Amino acid sequence: MPYDLIVIGSGPGGYVCAIRAAQLGMKVAVIEKDKTFGGTCLNVGCIPSKALLHASELYEESGQLFDKMGIKVGQPKVDLAAMMRFKDQGVEGNVKGVAFLFKKNNIDTFQGTGRIVTAGEVEVKTADGKSETIEGKAIVIATGSDVARLPGIDIDERRIVSSTGALVLDQVPERLLVIGAGVIGLELGSVWRRLGSKVIVVEFLDRILPGMDSEVCRQVQRIFEKQGIVFKLSSKVTGVEAAGKTLKATVQPTAGGAAESIEADVVLVSIGRVPFTEGLGLEAVGVKTDNKGRVMVDARFATNVPDVYAIGDAIAGPMLAHKAMDEGAAVAEIIAGEAGHVNYDVIPNVVYTYPEIASVGKSEEELKEAGIAYNTGKFPFTANGRAKVNLQTEGFVKILADAKTDRVLGVHIVGADAGNMIAEAAVAMEFGAASEDIARTCHPHPTFTEAVKEAALAVDKRAIHM
Ligand code: FAD
Ligand code: NAI
Repeated sequence: MPYDLIVIGSGPGGYVCAIRAAQLGMKVAVIEKDKTFGGTCLNVGCIPSKALLHASELYEESGQLFDKMGIKVGQPKVDLAAMMRFKDQGVEGNVKGVAFLFKKNNIDTFQGTGRIVTAGEVEVKTADGKSETIEGKAIVIATGSDVARLPGIDIDERRIVSSTGALVLDQVPERLLVIGAGVIGLELGSVWRRLGSKVIVVEFLDRILPGMDSEVCRQVQRIFEKQGIVFKLSSKVTGVEAAGKTLKATVQPTAGGAAESIEADVVLVSIGRVPFTEGLGLEAVGVKTDNKGRVMVDARFATNVPDVYAIGDAIAGPMLAHKAMDEGAAVAEIIAGEAGHVNYDVIPNVVYTYPEIASVGKSEEELKEAGIAYNTGKFPFTANGRAKVNLQTEGFVKILADAKTDRVLGVHIVGADAGNMIAEAAVAMEFGAASEDIARTCHPHPTFTEAVKEAALAVDKRAIHM
């Protein structure tokens, strides 16, 4: 009996797709090449990085804030091996959760590398070389992404690491050189700085976090600098040489000019990720990819080959777990004949540093570029009662609303727990809210979320606490 659906890859895109398809009555198979389910996100991405961010944040807080709150614990110490075990347990719990959900939904799983033989057949090859072919009426490619590499810099995952190696270091490097001031550079740079590393971040562009609202980036750069991270902007690393125990990175201004050498114990390469479709047999079956290696799909996630679909990091769009999950559910619904849909205008983006940085919708630069007139409402956490009493006053909420209609076009939050707060903005935007709708919604006191209401009031220049 052929399956109704074969999903290749069990990351957030693939596993959500499989579960949603099973809910809709399909007989589903999932193929995963790794030993555990959950993909990049659960094994070497979102989950382990957030475990280390959480633990290292509490470590720093206990050293810096506890005393001020009247909690005497002495100088906290890091037991890195125990912290790594804590992280690994978190990963284990999550990957087992996916295995449980597959069983609960009667989804068949195959361990091995999937290769599309024809539109209806996928060969599964196990690590020991055995292979079997399964048949499916539809195939979803959910094979995710891999680390982008720099020519001439070999990642050994011990001293020159990608995010994967940076999540398993067995000692705190004295000096960490990060290449790329994007999300991974800032999150994992923060982890190791908190645990004791001197962190230098070399960024190609003249700003950190490209793509994010530039006012937000300027503010958070200052905050990270105060925390001790050193940024070398408009610079690129052209090579890394191992000289005994020390690594020597050659750093050059992007615009040209004299190079300098920076010494480090560990170098983290975090310059982005690239789609992963190796060994899938795309060329043989004729599935088209673009010039960045992304599988090309239409609005229904369909490739140019009938009954072959693709989602997640393997296709265009932000490389985010929640984007992959929503596409997974949508494509399952489309294959089942329903109206699956993802609204790409409302995909939140969160950087889990301290403070957190969260945004949804348009930045000021994007609105200016599109010629859209907008009003801005801004409210700082220094004026929020809960933030003040918690000693967590860094950051602000900024709401951008259409000048004519007052419809919310973008929300940007820097602050403790910004990642949770941005969900309110996303719901409001999905419902086409005006800033006045948020302003008139009763928010619980005392919470950080009152700053969202105040920023909405500030759009109409009537914030109360400022
Ligand atoms: P993946 O999660 O990459 O899963 C693809 C799966 O397919 C893998 O398990 C792979 O082994 C398998 N596979 C590939 N080819 C084959 C084949 N031929 N046969 C069988 N199996 C195959 N996103 C967020 O939203 N929030 C975060 O906080 C966040 N943190 C991150 C931190 C780090 C350090 C990294 C690296 C990424 C982070 N991301 C985060 C991004 C997020 O992990 C990805 O966007 C997400 O995992 C993409 O999901 P996916 O299902 O498309 O692919
Ligand atoms: P990124 O795209 O976020 O940032 C890469 C940075 O490296 C950019 O600032 C870029 O200008 C810079 N860069 C590129 N080439 C360079 C060079 N040669 N020298 C110096 N700088 C260079 O990529 P990153 O941080 O590797 O993360 C990959 C992806 O993983 C993210 O884009 C995101 O989609 C996902 N992710 C999401 C997280 C979250 O949602 N919290 C956390 C971690 C990763």
